[in-house]
Amino acid sequence: MTDLSSKRVVLGVTGGIAAYKSADLVRRLREAGADVRVVMTRSATEFVTPLTFQALSNHPVATTLLDADAEQAMGHIALARWADVVLVAPASANFLSRLARGAADDLLSTLCLATGAPVAVAPAMNRQMWDNRATVDNVTLLRSRGIYIYGPAEGMQACGETGPGRMLEPADLVRRVTGLFATGRLAGRRVLVTAGPTLEDIDPVRFIGNRSSGKMGYAVALAAAEAGANVVLISGPVALPAPPRTRRIDVRTAQQMHDAVMAQIGAQDIFIGAAAVADYRVAQAAEQKIKKDGQALQLTLTPTPDILAAVAALPDAPFCVGFAAETEAVAQNARTKLAAKGLDMIAANNVAVDGIGFDADENALTVCWRGGARELPRAPKDRLARELISLIAERYHETHTTEDTGRTHR
Ligand SMILES: Cc1cc2nc3c(=O)[nH]c(=O)nc-3n(C[C@H](O)[C@H](O)[C@H](O)COP(=O)(O)O)c2cc1C
Repeated sequence: MTDLSSKRVVLGVTGGIAAYKSADLVRRLREAGADVRVVMTRSATEFVTPLTFQALSNHPVATTLLDADAEQAMGHIALARWADVVLVAPASANFLSRLARGAADDLLSTLCLATGAPVAVAPAMNRQMWDNRATVDNVTLLRSRGIYIYGPAEGMQACGETGPGRMLEPADLVRRVTGLFATGRLAGRRVLVTAGPTLEDIDPVRFIGNRSSGKMGYAVALAAAEAGANVVLISGPVALPAPPRTRRIDVRTAQQMHDAVMAQIGAQDIFIGAAAVADYRVAQAAEQKIKKDGQALQLTLTPTPDILAAVAALPDAPFCVGFAAETEAVAQNARTKLAAKGLDMIAANNVAVDGIGFDADENALTVCWRGGARELPRAPKDRLARELISLIAERYHETHTTEDTGRTHR
């Protein structure tokens, strides 16, 4: 499986003969759906021109750290934060040494230090350089720090020698990068996610809605699918395409969402309620468009079904995760909701903070469960979704047996 849909890849290219292969690597990463930004060391630009990578990635190539213009556009910290993964291919012996000693003396090394994303390197060098004790020690150290070492492969080398030191083929590297996201933590589990707003009709042309874009719920559905789950996504009206490898059921109102959830819930191991479900609907929606007559108009609102609470109260309820949008006392309100609705976990966000939450690309979550909590600091929603899914998988496996569907012990 080589699906990197919506993944942001920083490709670092260092000074080695194999740099020419990275042109093909950019093409393949993009074919797999990744958004790619290339960063080159100064030496790398002696082997392949930045123009080649710019044309293939469709973005300017970053080469220098101390460049005021580049810092204004997408500086080293912005790039470090932007990345879902940093792949250095080819990684020269020199670069491995700089990475091992924590150097921050050019853009690529600084970025590798500054990023919270996984860093993977694909070494490529003469076999003597690879076997040299210094390189062996550097690689051991890097591996122990959690850096992924991809390859090298054995074979005929540019220098005419044969042995280990060839960069892995681009297709193999794409497969391995994809594998970083396909964690398998929820392999075989069935996960139901709700996302987006619900819209409650006032008359045939007007409705009551909310500002949910569905981005968080869609990111959670994709992350669950990448973790190996079989995902059903029940979605209110949003402007997003269905995430790959998920089955989407479209609904409009809270009642429809409730009914769709209840029709699917029997088969599910985990329920994640990320939708912003309307709490009220208009008691009697008008059959014809309400005419404007300059007078005050009163609407009588009636509560909608509480989907989360209904699911959590089922006799054989799945592991239930709720979302809470709060504007104050986030953790405290989340804990109250966790207990009141009988949930297994709740992910709360402060929608009063500018730039995160509703209709934004970033979010920050306070995740609470009985006896524990974790802060997931501000990050793009897709990365946050992956962290949340790992946390859900961790808690789910702690509270359930691994046999069968796992719906035996709560
Ligand atoms: C023709 C040529 C080919 C080279 N190929 C490699 C290589 O495949 N792997 C490597 O580690 N170094 C190779 N080097 C040496 C690196 O280019 C050199 O160590 C450089 O300083 C690496 O800089 P960087 O790590 O900042 O990119 C080569 C040098 C030359 C002149």
